[in-house]
Amino acid sequence: MKSLDGRVALVTGGARGIGEAVVRAFVDEGASVVITDVLREEGRALREEIGAAALFCAADVTSEADWASAVAEAEREFGPVSLLVNNAGIVEFGSIEETDPRTFHRVLDVNLVGPWLGMRAVAPSMRRAGGGVILNVSSTAGLMGYASLGAYVASKWGLRGLTKAAALDLARDGIRVCSVHPGPISTPMTAGMDESITVDQPIARFGTPEEVARMAVFLAAEATYSTGSEFVVDGGATTGSMMLAASAD
Ligand SMILES: NC(=O)c1ccc[n+]([C@@H]2O[C@H](COP(=O)([O-])OP(=O)(O)OC[C@H]3O[C@@H](n4cnc5c(N)ncnc54)[C@H](O)[C@@H]3O)[C@@H](O)[C@H]2O)c1
Repeated sequence: MKSLDGRVALVTGGARGIGEAVVRAFVDEGASVVITDVLREEGRALREEIGAAALFCAADVTSEADWASAVAEAEREFGPVSLLVNNAGIVEFGSIEETDPRTFHRVLDVNLVGPWLGMRAVAPSMRRAGGGVILNVSSTAGLMGYASLGAYVASKWGLRGLTKAAALDLARDGIRVCSVHPGPISTPMTAGMDESITVDQPIARFGTPEEVARMAVFLAAEATYSTGSEFVVDGGATTGSMMLAASAD
């Protein structure tokens, strides 16, 4: 018996990076998984590799219609959805003044409106499943600020707050909603970033997508008394700074 046997999951942005690792970990634990992404080739290739336990559905998280068809396809193929991982996200760098309004809106659309549309689309299916778990992938940028990341920081703080509102709205339907806050993780999103950004972390390295996926499995399968709460996977990055002690040496 595996920890997610019989569960039906939908993972957005599941074609690569953290989403891909979550898809693989959920399948390993016995779940059937609908992978959604705008990257058709990567999504189809992953589905081919995994086989019958997975389904790929090309869907943009900002489209209400795409959400409706992804949930309908999930139900047709596997049954009602009991796990949703709102993982798809984008990052745009720029100071408050450098960022143009279109970019700001786009980041909020994908990172915040997308998960909201997802929760709306999936909630009726979860009720049919008799309950469920929703994981919203925020960031350490949903716990603190970062220079030149205003749009991203706003979207991830928003998602952290939305998680709490959703946890309250959906509690009586047996649906738990938590946010996950990764620090720097080695994925295509961080491909251009230097390892030196981790020097002030207690665990001074990039994390792996699998380390985030293990938290997702725990939250989906084991964390039966947690809802509305934040789960940090950041190598200790938000714990504090070690710079002062280093400068005293
Ligand atoms: N990598 C990190 O260091 C890190 C840290 C904190 C939080 N996160 C968050 O984790 C999540 C996954 O990030 P990642 O590092 O794997 O990034 P990634 O860029 O490797 O993967 C993101 C996936 O989301 C998909 N996507 C983007 N826009 C989409 C849309 N409109 N509709 C559907 N799919 C879309 C992309 O095609 C891609 O497959 C994101 O929400 C990101 O903000 C990442």
